[in-house]
Amino acid sequence: MNTDVKTEPAVYPPSADFTGGAHVDAARYKEMYDRSISDPEGFWAEEGKRLDWIEPYTRVKDTSFEFGKVSIKWFEDGKLNVAANCIDRHLETRGDQTAIIWEPDDPADETLHISYRELHEKVCRMANVLLAQGVMRGDRVIIYLPMIPEAAYAMLACARIGAIHSVVFAGFSPDALANRINDCGAKVVVTADTAPRGGKRTALKSNADAALLHCSDKVRCLVVKHTGDQTTWIDGRDVDVKAMMADVAPDCPVRPMGAEDPLFILYTSGSTGKPKGVVHTSGGYLVYAAMTQKFTFDYHDGDVFWCGADVGWVTGHTYILYGPLANGATTLMFEGVPTWPDAGRFWQVIEKHKVNQFYTAPTAIRALMGQGTEFPAKCDLSSLKVLGTVGEPINPEAWNWYNDNIGKGRLPIVDTWWQTETGGHMITPLPGAVATKPGSATLPFFGVKPVVLEPESGKIVESDPAEGVLAIADSWPGQMRTVWGDHERFESTYFQQYKGYYFSGDGCRRDEDGYYWITGRVDDVINVSGHRMGTAEVESALVAHADVAEAAVVGFPHDIKGQGIYCYVTLMNGVEPTDELKKDLEKWVRTEIGPIAKPDHIQWAPGLPKTRSGKIMRRILRKIAENDYGALGDTSTLADPSVVDDLIDNRMNKD
Ligand code: WT7
Repeated sequence: MNTDVKTEPAVYPPSADFTGGAHVDAARYKEMYDRSISDPEGFWAEEGKRLDWIEPYTRVKDTSFEFGKVSIKWFEDGKLNVAANCIDRHLETRGDQTAIIWEPDDPADETLHISYRELHEKVCRMANVLLAQGVMRGDRVIIYLPMIPEAAYAMLACARIGAIHSVVFAGFSPDALANRINDCGAKVVVTADTAPRGGKRTALKSNADAALLHCSDKVRCLVVKHTGDQTTWIDGRDVDVKAMMADVAPDCPVRPMGAEDPLFILYTSGSTGKPKGVVHTSGGYLVYAAMTQKFTFDYHDGDVFWCGADVGWVTGHTYILYGPLANGATTLMFEGVPTWPDAGRFWQVIEKHKVNQFYTAPTAIRALMGQGTEFPAKCDLSSLKVLGTVGEPINPEAWNWYNDNIGKGRLPIVDTWWQTETGGHMITPLPGAVATKPGSATLPFFGVKPVVLEPESGKIVESDPAEGVLAIADSWPGQMRTVWGDHERFESTYFQQYKGYYFSGDGCRRDEDGYYWITGRVDDVINVSGHRMGTAEVESALVAHADVAEAAVVGFPHDIKGQGIYCYVTLMNGVEPTDELKKDLEKWVRTEIGPIAKPDHIQWAPGLPKTRSGKIMRRILRKIAENDYGALGDTSTLADPSVVDDLIDNRMNKD
C-alpha cells in the first residue's frame, strides 16, 4: 500500500453550509452527549418517545454489567410492535411515499418503488402466510433470501406477529444454514428458488434442501419463486410463498410485544468454532436504530437513503430496514454487486435514484479504487449529502479516493464503529457536529461511554493519548441481551475478562483530542471484507477433511479484503501435499462455511509451533504469514523451535 507522506490537512471540520441545516451541530452534540451520560434515565425516557407505544413504559433502564449477574433491560414494561412503528404509523401521513426502492441485480430489469401502503399490504400477507404455517409468537423463522423485497416483508412479518427472525446470509453454505436452523430450533425457513448476483445465480433452494436433510422433518420450507428457475419440490414441506400471499387476507393485526421480547437473532463468529446467536429485543433496539440512522447520516424527511450492505448482516438489519423505516424514510435495497455489469454500478444507482446518503464498506471502496476514477466521473453524484463507511478501519488511500471522487471534497464522511452486538453505531462522527480525521471513528454516540483499558491489568487509561482495548462502561438501548440459549456464554465472552465492562474485542487508541482510532481485533477473530470470521471456525472446517491432521488459521494483510485468510495445514501421515489437494481444501472450506470463508493462502506445515503445554503460538504464525520474520519474539518456550525455521523456509521458497 501507498505510504507516501500526506500533505492534505488531517482534520476536516464540518462546513458551515452543512452545519446550518443539520439536526445536530457541535454545541448541540456536546449538550446532548453530556445529558445522555449524566442523566441516562431522563435522556432515554425522552428518546424512547420517538416510537409509538401501545403501552407506555414507566421503567427506562435496568441494567447490570456485573459478571455472573449480567442483565440488560430497557423500557421493560412498555409494549409496542416494531412493524407498526416501521409501517402502520406512517400510513396516514406518508402512505403513498416510497418506503423501499428495490434495484435489481440486472440494470435492465425493472426497479420497484414500494410505497408504505404497499409495504403494509405485503407484510400483512406475508404475516398471514406465516400464521397459516403455524408460526406463533416467540417461534423462530430462518430467512435465507437474496436481497429482494420479500426479505424485508418476511422480517417485518415476523415482527408483526411476534415471531423471532434469524436472517442467514445467502452466501452461507447448507451446513452453516443447518447449524443455525438447529441452534435456534426454527419452525420454518423462508428461501428463494435462486439468487441472482453479479449476473450469476446461487441455487438457494437446493442449499436449503441440503441443509434440511440435517434438521427436524417438521421444518417447513417457504419458497419465494423469484427467478422462476426450476427447483426440486417436496409436497407437504415446501410452500409457494407468492402464490399463498395472493390467497391470504391483505390485513393482519399487529401483536403487542413487550419491549424486551426478542426481535431477532443474528449469528456471528467468535473465537470458538461455534457461531453465537446474538439476540436483540424490540424496544431499545428500535429506539437506537431510529436515532442513529437519523443523526449519524443527518437524515431528513424526503431524503433517499442507501445502505449498501446485505440484510444478512446487522448493518442491513439496522440501516436498510429498521432504522430508516422507523423514521419513515425512503430506503434503497440493492440486489447486485458493485462491480457488475461494470465497476460503475454503485455510482449509476446513486445517479438513477438521486441517493442522498450512501453507506458502504472500505473493502468495496478499495475494490472500486483499482478500477479507476472514470466510473464515478461519468455519473452525476450531486444528490449526495453524506457518505459513510463501516466494517473496518478505513485506510487513508481509500478515504482519500472516496473523498475526492465521490464526495468531491465537499461531503462529510462518517466512519462508524459498531458491532453485531451493539445493534447500532457506537463511535461515529455526527456530520454537522464533529470534525473528522481520516481513519478515526472519532467520538461516541449519545449514551455511549467508551473506555480504554490496559490489556493486562484491565485498568482504565484516563489520560490522552491512550492505548489499549476498547470497552464500554454502561449499557445503551441497542445492546444485545444474550446469546440465544446460552446466557453464560454471553457473560463469559463480553463481561468476564474486564469486570464491570462490556468488552468489544477490539484494540484502540485515543488521541489528544479524545478521538478513537480502532486498531482491529485483539481476539482470534479476523475481519475479511468487513465481515467477521472466527479463525477457529475455519480450522474446524479444515480438520473435518479426511486428509487434514491439524490446522491453524490466522489473518494477514490483504489489499482489498483488509485481512485475508491464511491457513497452515498439517496433513495426515502419508498424504502427499499437492496443488490439487490445496484446491480441494479451498473448495472444502467454501462448502463447509460459504464463499466468504475461502482460504486466500494455504501453507503446508509439517509441524505447528506449540508451547510445551500444546498451545499453538499464533503470534508466530501471524508474523510468518505477514512475511515479517525479524520480530518473531521469544521462541524459547516452544516444544520444538525448529518447526519455525521450517515454516519460514516454506513460506520464503514457495511464495
Ligand atoms: C467488528 C464488528 C456492525 C458493523 C459491521 C461489522 C470492526 C466495524 C469498524 C470501523 C474499525 C470496525 C471491529 C468490530 N469494525 N466497524 N468503523 N472501524 N473497525 O459487524 O461483523 O459484528 O464486526 O468490525 O473490529 O469489532 P461485525
